[in-house]
Formats: sequence, structure tokens, C-alpha cells
Amino acid sequence: MKRTWWKEAVVYQVYWRSFFDTDGDGYGDLEGVRQKLPYIKELGADVVWLNPFYVSPDKDNGYDIADYYGVMDRAGTMADFERLLKEAHALGLKVILDLVVNHTSNQHQWFLESKKGKDSPKRDYYIWHDPVQGKAPNNWRSYFEPSCWEWDKHSGQYYYHSFAVEQPDLNWENKELRHEIYKMMRFWLDKGIDGFRMDVINLLAKRKDLSDVEDPYNLSYLANNPGIHEYLQEMHEEVLGNYNCMTVGEIPFVTPKEGALYVDEERQELNTLFHFQIADEMPTWDMLRFKEIQREWYEGLKGRGWNSQFLNNHDHTRQVTRYGNDREHRVASAKLLATLTHTLPGMPYIYQGEEIGMTGVTFDSIEDYQDIAMKNRYAEEVDKGRNENEVLVSLQLLSRDNSRTPMQWNDKKEAGFTQGIPWMSVNKNYVELNVEKDMQREDSVFRYYQRLIQLRKSNEALVYGDFKDLLPSDESLHVYERSLREEQFLIILNHSEDSHPIPVPTASFDLVLQNLNNETSQLQPYEARIYKKTIE
Ligand code: GLC
Repeated sequence: MKRTWWKEAVVYQVYWRSFFDTDGDGYGDLEGVRQKLPYIKELGADVVWLNPFYVSPDKDNGYDIADYYGVMDRAGTMADFERLLKEAHALGLKVILDLVVNHTSNQHQWFLESKKGKDSPKRDYYIWHDPVQGKAPNNWRSYFEPSCWEWDKHSGQYYYHSFAVEQPDLNWENKELRHEIYKMMRFWLDKGIDGFRMDVINLLAKRKDLSDVEDPYNLSYLANNPGIHEYLQEMHEEVLGNYNCMTVGEIPFVTPKEGALYVDEERQELNTLFHFQIADEMPTWDMLRFKEIQREWYEGLKGRGWNSQFLNNHDHTRQVTRYGNDREHRVASAKLLATLTHTLPGMPYIYQGEEIGMTGVTFDSIEDYQDIAMKNRYAEEVDKGRNENEVLVSLQLLSRDNSRTPMQWNDKKEAGFTQGIPWMSVNKNYVELNVEKDMQREDSVFRYYQRLIQLRKSNEALVYGDFKDLLPSDESLHVYERSLREEQFLIILNHSEDSHPIPVPTASFDLVLQNLNNETSQLQPYEARIYKKTIE
């Protein structure tokens, strides 16, 4: 496939509010990100993805935007952002921003105007509906609430929200609205940013048929509706095609077949995507399903579009806790998971803290959690009469707060994250597990990430090479090849807590990276090896 800078890039995701606080308010800030750019550079990443820092009442940690053109106080100022962007570029790092245009905050001027009444000139910027037989139009749920419809007494209509009540959905059928969004995108691109991560971008088009669904908990009816590809092609034509930028769409509820429609290079929509087959279908590790998903996406996108590889982010529990072993095998399993995301076909994404093997958290009380998705669900289930503790326990493993605790920089007060009181408690394991300690050790998770990234950078086969799963039905070992012309890589991963003999011949290969100090042919728990052969 065509070579481009972003296909070769490694993205580092910065959840800035939990990254580094420079003004003592307990929230990370843009100035903190700027100060840590050399750290990201040293790791070897190429692109920094910043979660939303626009003006926001912060009901959903910045994903409820009240002004697309401003910076929220907690994050800093526009001047801070410009300085951060400039310094990132000077270091050779690209910067992509979160584009959240499925919904705004209910405090956005557009919504305040739209809400004034049926005659408001902005009424149609949002989705309003009359009651049906005195009730909400249907039984659809939203991600964060039991109904996607919210009653507005003043105008006697319901408005539609795929997420919280405070996040009304925009009406993409309205041309004026679409052009307002394109203008805003140009504003940021003209400032010099290098692209966008597009929040739930396949939710923009809404289902026309408003009848009840059989299973309202399966939210797939919110996504991939007719009209979505026309919007994305228009966006490409109006904006994206005129810039040398990258786009990654957050695209839940897609199979490879549908996913290809978003990223097929001929179709001029998005560059790459995050699909959620792993995150949504695998609460814990499931080797056979994982392999199947990888094979299907590889086949589905081959020669057409580009995949992305991630196992965690600000919405999903830290990978070492969810898919590895965050106790006695923490270091080995953190490295094994890294090996996966950096050697499977697609762009690798690192979520801050992953590079030192940070772990999830379990708080004892619902009061300690902040995640609106978890808190709303907790209240809903307890309201039904369920036992409080049972509900809490059922929500803990996948709570989004697992990955939102502050970055652990050192063993000082609040892990060196803030001089104040952190907005969210620091994980207690910071004394042992922190950046400073990790960087001092040659065999640390951080050092392993560095080597892995360098290996990928200096070997095109790991980016553009063909992929072949050599053991599709083995439940413990994942063994695959990446090959391009004369270069061939063999990746052998023991994703299990037992030891296993190496299942394929390796004699003609050189061992180029390994996560454990083991010279035998018996793979240890969570052992990962990368072999290389150059065919003469
Ligand atoms: C995306 C974001 C998530 C947010 C939601 C609503 O899934 O990643 O954090 O809550 O969209 O914007």
C-alpha cells in the first residue's frame, strides 16, 4: 500500500488532566504536557493525541464542549496550546486533537439558542421530537442514561442524546451546522495541528426508523446509519483533503466489512479507525477470539485501508490489568502486550502510563469514582432495588476510572503529578511503580517500549509487511509472521501463565528482542520473542 508518515507512526495518547499539573489545581494542564514533551520524544513516539481541552462544563471530562474555539481554564490558555504545538513540532512530534462533533454540551451557545423554542433559528442544529402518546418516541437507550430522549418542558418536545443528558446530539442533516463544524476544523488545522482523533464519528447519522428496538441495551442502533458516509466524504472534500493531516475515527459497532467503508483509501473518508471488537467483546483475555479478530481485520482491510492497534485508552481499563497479569507477571505481561500492539498490522497507540506498566484501580466506595458512565449506571441499577455492593463490584473491572488515575512520575507526594490535591486519587502503587524508577532500569517496561519502537522504525516489514497467523487454534501461544520482500519477522508470544516449548523452528532466525532473560527453548509465562531473518 501507499507509504505515508502516519502509517509508520506511533501515537502517544495524553489524557492531559491526569498527566502533569503545573499550577497546583490538581488537574494536569497543557503546560504540563509541554514540559513533558521531551519524555514522549525519548520514548520514541511520533504523534501526540490530546484528549479534549476545549471550554467545557466537564460533565464528561471535556467531551461536553461549550466552545470549540476556546481552552478550558483547567487546561490553561490558547497561548499555552500554541506554545505546546510549536515545541512539539520543533522536537519532530506531530499533534492531533480530539474532534467531538456528534454532540456538544447543553451549555454551548447553539444549544442555549436552540432550546429557546420551536422558532429558534438554531432549533434544527439539534434533534427535537414531539412526544409519542405522551411519552418518549421510543425505547432507545443512550450510552450513559436509560433513555436517549430528554424532555424539555418549556418547548414541549424531547431532544436526542447518545450520551449524557448534558450532551445533546447535533443534527448533521442541517447543512449550516455541518459548515460551522468544517469552519471550526479549519481553524485548528490552520493553527498547525496535524490531524484529529474523531470521537464516535460513526454516530453522526441517526436512524430514521424510530420504532422500538428488541434489545435496547445493544446500542448498535445508534451507529452506522444511512448518510454517514456522505457526511464523511463531504468533510473530506471540504476540509481534510486540503491538509496533510491524519484522521483516526472512533468507530464502535463495526465488523471489518463495514469498517473498510470508512477507511478504504479510494473512498476518501478517514485514514484509520479504532474498532471495538476487542474492547467490547473481550472483558478479559480470550486468545481464540483475539486471533480471529486480528485475522479478520487483516483480511478485511488488506490493500484497502489501515488498521489501528490499541488495548486500552481513557475509556478502557489498563491493559496489564485487563489482559495481562498485574501482580507477579506485571512487567513481563506489560511487555508482551506491547509486543502485540507494535507488531500486529496497523498503527500502535500507547496510552499514557502504559509504557511503565501502570495498573487499574479498585476503589472501595462509589463516592471515590468520578466516571459519569459508571456513576449513572450504578444509580440506575441500585434504583431497581439491586444490592449496592454487588452493583459496585460488577462495575469495577470496566470502570473508565481504571485508566484515569494520575500519571506516576516518581515516589514523591502524589506521585509527582501535582503539588495540590489531585482531581482523582493516585494509584497507591506509585511508590514502587513510577517513571523515575522505570527509567533507571535497563530491563524496565519503558526501556522495552523504546527498543520495540526503534525496531519497528528500522524495519519496514513490521509496518507494511504481510501478516500470517501460524497457530490459529492454540489457546496459549500466539505465533505470527510479518514479511516484506527479503525481510521476515517471526513473533512468538506465550500469553499464558504456564511454560510451553517453542512450537516452530527458529534456527534460521536471529533473536532481535525478548522480554525475559531466558536462553532455553522452553517459553516462560508471558514470554515474548521477536526473531528476524533476512533472505539472501
Ligand atoms: C467517546 C470518548 C468518551 C466519551 C464519549 C462521548 O467514546 O472516548 O470518553 O465519554 O465518546 O463523547
